Order: sequence, then C-alpha cells, then structure tokens
Amino acid sequence: MRSIISFADISVGEFYPLINRAKELKSKIRSGQNLKILNNKIVGMLFEKPSTRTRASFEAATLRLGGSPIYMASSELQMKRGEPVKDTARVLCGYMNAMVARVFENETVAELSKYSSIPIINGLSDLEHPTQLVSDMLTIYELKGRLKGLNITYIGDGDNIANSLLLAASTAGANATIACPDGYQPDKEILKKSNAIARKTGSRLLVTDNVKEAASGADVLYTDVWVSMGEEREAKKRMKAFRGYQINSKILQLADKDAIVMHCLPAHRGLEITDEVLEGRHSAAWLQAENKLYGAAAVLELAICGKIGR
Ligand code: CP
Ligand code: NVA
Repeated sequence: MRSIISFADISVGEFYPLINRAKELKSKIRSGQNLKILNNKIVGMLFEKPSTRTRASFEAATLRLGGSPIYMASSELQMKRGEPVKDTARVLCGYMNAMVARVFENETVAELSKYSSIPIINGLSDLEHPTQLVSDMLTIYELKGRLKGLNITYIGDGDNIANSLLLAASTAGANATIACPDGYQPDKEILKKSNAIARKTGSRLLVTDNVKEAASGADVLYTDVWVSMGEEREAKKRMKAFRGYQINSKILQLADKDAIVMHCLPAHRGLEITDEVLEGRHSAAWLQAENKLYGAAAVLELAICGKIGR
C-alpha cells in the first residue's frame, strides 16, 4: 500500500517493471479477461477540477480490475463549505481503499495523504501529473521500442506535465529538453531532483528557450496547454508569452523523420499545436489517451496491492 503523489515516488528499479505491467494489463483487459485484482476494493475519485480522461480512465480501470469507484466532486462535498482537508481525509479513508485526487494546490494532495490511512494517487495538481506520465512512457515505449537514450522534447509551459516529464524521463534514462519562455520554466526543486536521478541513469536534461534547437533531431515532441486549469486569469499574458512555442509542421520537420508528437489533451488547435500536426501521421495523442486506462490499472495495482504484477 503506497501513495503516488509525485513521479519521484516511482523508483528507478520499479519503473520498467511498472511499464511492462501496464503493457501486460493492456493485453489482458483488451482480451476481455475477468480480472479480480481489486476485488472488493473501493476507489474514491476526489476531483476539484474538471476531467475527461483521468477520471474516466481511473474509474474504468477500477471496474476492469474488479473494484468499484466512487466519484466525489469537491464542489458537492462539505469541503466547499470550508471543512478542512485533514478532516475530509480522515473520514473518507474509512470508506474506501484508495483515492485518486485532482486538486488545485499540490499541498492538498500531500495533506490528503498525510491524514489518510489509504494510498492517495495524484490525479493532477498544480505541480505534477504523475499518472499521465506513466501512461505516456508506456506510449513511447510501445511506439519506439525503448526509452533509454531517446530524445524527448517538450515545447511550451513548464507546468505540471513538464515537471512530471522531467522526473519520468530521468527515471527512464531518456534525455529531456524543455523549451519554454523565460518566466515559465519547470519547478526548480523538481529539476534538481530530476538531475540527481539523471546522474544515476545516464539521462541528459536541458531547459532552454530555443524551440528550434530543442526540436532538432527529437524522437518525441510533446506539448500541453498554455493556460492550465486555475490560470484562466493569466490567459492574455500567457498567449503573448507562448507565441512561437507551438508544435507545427515547420517544427516537426526539424525533428527525427520518425518522430512522434504527443499531447496529454485537451488540445487547443492553433495555439500550442496545429490541427494539421495533431491529426497528422506523427500524432500519438489518441494512443496516449487510450493508454491512460492501462497506466491507471498498473498504478492502482501498485498503490493498493503494493506490488507490480505477480
Ligand atoms: N490528460 C488529462 O489529464 O486529461 P483530463 O484533464 O481530461 O483528465
Ligand atoms: N497542464 C494542464 C494539464 C491538463 C491535463 C492543466 O493543468 O490544466
């Protein structure tokens, strides 16, 4: 039993077994096997923000593994009227076996974990989106056959996705370049932590503002929205800051000829990515979305059963 608040909660030694387990669960689920891994287990979904993919994939994964999900929108809980997170945590953990939480502030998910006797899974906070990167690593591994030594370039906001990507790439032994404008770099502490991991795995990490250099020869081009949930008031300023940080066909031409293009979705066509690239033959976005189900299944098994596979 363990919480997954940060991608750093997955060790270097656990990483490949976890990705392989997600792959194995993918084939079991797709072939319609009746899995009982989460038999009699209840998984809560506590969401402070909207979600299409994370909520549905975690609910579906819970059901596919034989468990039952309970969805709780924070706007319908007493939290909305000021009940403290620590009280909410101590009460809810008595009803369920794990909780996926999507929150505004990372401190909230950390506090839920501190005051719960059950594993808490971060389903996105302002700092990280670790489970997204578990499934994204599966997607890259499936399409490229390896992760070690690959050049993954992220273009755009140094946000929760970029932060978890730095940790995921360094853990996998892949190289990561984050191209972002000044003032929108990834979190300094996460970069420091990722660099420490990279020293062990042989991965190389770089943060730059040069999009063209970053895209040159990349095996993977990844982007995310310029305005994350909770940042709506900064939209105008951000539109200006991120001009030029778009994945389009010109940028794609600089990458490796077999490069894949990734987006965690939802996408804003014409902003961080063009319609042509998102719908084009290099796009992995739809496989990425599908794989969230299998990443979720492997993460739930690790969190609730405390093991990876048998
Ligand atoms: N990629 C992702 O987390 O999507 P949702 O916001 O729809 O969950
Ligand atoms: N950075 C985005 C990711 C959405 C899945 C956000 O936080 O809104």
